Amino acid sequence: RLVPPPADMQRRQYRGYWFPEWHLSALAAARDHFEPKPTDIFLVSCPKSGTTWLKSLAFATVHRDVHPPSGREHPLLHKNPHDCVKFIHTIYRQPVDVVRDIVEAYPSPRIFGSHFPLSLLPERINGDGCGCRIVYICRDPKDVVVSWWWFMRTYLPNPEQVRFEEVFDLFCEGRTGAGPYWRHALEHWEESRRRPDKVLFLRYEEMLRDPQCNLRRLAEFLGCAFSEAEEKAGVLDAILELCSLGELKKLEVNQSGNKIKDEPMMNHSFFRKGVSGDWINHMTPEMAARLDAIVEQALQGTGFDFGISM
Ligand code: A3P
Repeated sequence: RLVPPPADMQRRQYRGYWFPEWHLSALAAARDHFEPKPTDIFLVSCPKSGTTWLKSLAFATVHRDVHPPSGREHPLLHKNPHDCVKFIHTIYRQPVDVVRDIVEAYPSPRIFGSHFPLSLLPERINGDGCGCRIVYICRDPKDVVVSWWWFMRTYLPNPEQVRFEEVFDLFCEGRTGAGPYWRHALEHWEESRRRPDKVLFLRYEEMLRDPQCNLRRLAEFLGCAFSEAEEKAGVLDAILELCSLGELKKLEVNQSGNKIKDEPMMNHSFFRKGVSGDWINHMTPEMAARLDAIVEQALQGTGFDFGISM
């Protein structure tokens, strides 16, 4: 059997989605206590979809006036992207009175990460009348499951015992973090069509293919489009460079093995290959066909697909 996860990683199904128990406690606290501001930005994803990249890009873009991307003191050079943009579940793992002061002190616009789908967030964050903006990122589920497997092996106690086939089965059952993956993505794709001014839907593969175009889309959506002068001065390219996998991966802070505060994984766990199609090196054709069929069936008639040839 799959090596039992640490106690705080045990998963439970909540309103159709699977989460570690402590994420759900944090969600309950956030539902009761989080006070959104209309300028807040939520970066939403299932784990292993490119969250770390999106966090870096959004942080560097939104705060570029205060932190020029080519400056040597840029926070992303000294802090892991998950420490620059915190997850809601990490924030609300702390006592709520501590949290209040922490989130109040965030520079505006505040940026939060979330693996919780919109349907689990309180009305005051995702309601029609609310100003908050949401950026979602999805990825080919076959690459996501491979990335999951590698990720688990970086922090579980006996990595050699984590068999790919077992992680794959769990993923197909929808039971890995925030799954079922396809349901999570579909929900946000539908919301992005209903409220395109509030929800931007990005795809990891498209970002790899055309990073410039996707960063421009992101900046425009977040209300801080790059000016012509900025483009000429190379600001957009500097942000892409700063946030590239190669650059982030070689930073001391992202190699050092320091744990991200309060979470079991290590800083280096978030950086691996960063390519599309690595699944081919790990799955048999039968496994790929099985997952494709599950996804296809789940998305049938919705108009949504993952944009990759099956
Ligand atoms: P691989 O394991 O396929 O390499 P998440 O951030 O949601 O946990 O996703 C992790 C995946 O995104 C990993 O994929 C990781 O290598 C990749 N990744 C991390 N930072 C990236 C970056 N700056 N650019 C592109 N991909 C990145």
